[in-house]
Amino acid sequence: MRQIEPVRLQRDCTGIDWRALVDLFKLTDLAGREGDKVRRSFEKSDVVCFAFDGPKLVGAARALSDCEYHATIYDVAVHPDYQRHGIGTRIVEEVLSALPVWRILLVADDDVRPFYGRLGFQPFGDILARIDKLRLYDPK
Ligand SMILES: CC(C)(COP(=O)(O)OP(=O)(O)OC[C@H]1O[C@@H](n2cnc3c(N)ncnc32)[C@H](O)[C@@H]1OP(=O)(O)O)[C@@H](O)C(=O)NCCC(=O)NCCS
Repeated sequence: MRQIEPVRLQRDCTGIDWRALVDLFKLTDLAGREGDKVRRSFEKSDVVCFAFDGPKLVGAARALSDCEYHATIYDVAVHPDYQRHGIGTRIVEEVLSALPVWRILLVADDDVRPFYGRLGFQPFGDILARIDKLRLYDPK
């Protein structure tokens, strides 16, 4: 396995190259994350975490929370060349460490459930969602 230098984690949006973040989401097949909406979503989030190899952005995640009861984690991504080296675990653990709440939600495809299972996430019964796809992108 290729050796990866320890990545640096950053817990704020200072100096983030937002186009690199959009590219990261494209590379990791996280659809529906485009344009300046991505920057605004991270800047408005309560917790953010970015991972860097030198100057290169290789991972990200964010969370919304009241920091009392509830939180939801979004946009967890690690660059394909850097996956399976513990970086995603470090990013999520960093986000979790900033969330002093009893219930943390996220949406996970079947294939990444083992990743989240190791971090303590389990299927949780009664979640409902209201979807409006027209709001997924900024108006042209
Ligand atoms: C999911 C993701 C963030 C994991 O990041 P990562 O840095 O590769 O994860 P880690 O190296 O910390 O993985 C730790 C463990 O989780 C499990 N795991 C990680 N990715 C997995 C996968 N795709 N399938 C099954 N198990 C996985 C493994 O047990 C792994 O340990 P191992 O490599 O020793 O077997 C990354 O694969 C990714 O960006 N995927 C595409 C985007 C995505 O699906 N994001 C989640 C949105 S909900």
